[in-house]
Amino acid sequence: MEKFDKSGSLPEVAEKLGIGEYHRHVFLCTGDKCCTAEVGLAAWEALKQELKDRKLSLSTGPNACYRTKVGCLRICQSGPIAVVYPEGTWYSGLTAERIPLFVQQHLVEGDPVREWVFAGNPLPNEEE
Ligand code: FES
Repeated sequence: MEKFDKSGSLPEVAEKLGIGEYHRHVFLCTGDKCCTAEVGLAAWEALKQELKDRKLSLSTGPNACYRTKVGCLRICQSGPIAVVYPEGTWYSGLTAERIPLFVQQHLVEGDPVREWVFAGNPLPNEEE
């Protein structure tokens, strides 16, 4: 399991996590109403590994992406459910098997995998 040193003040911990550098944030539900906990956790482990392998996590690059495992996104069916901000792209069925294509196409190329998207809620970007 990945270990991370969370000692230090809040600003120090935030800096270690690269907060302030991210362009996207993925929230992935690990169930267990939209999917079983086993399926949800497998997707979460796949997401962590894929972001790490591609150096998108704890990164300062243009595709730097923060990730958060959540207990429910209130959809509670057809999971694992995920949402990506700032685009506000909502995914269903984001299983471990689908994570590599999701990461490559959406998080690297900026092109959501439309057949898995069921809703959208982009957040305003005041710089645009
Ligand atoms: S349990 Fe996953 S959305 Fe509710």
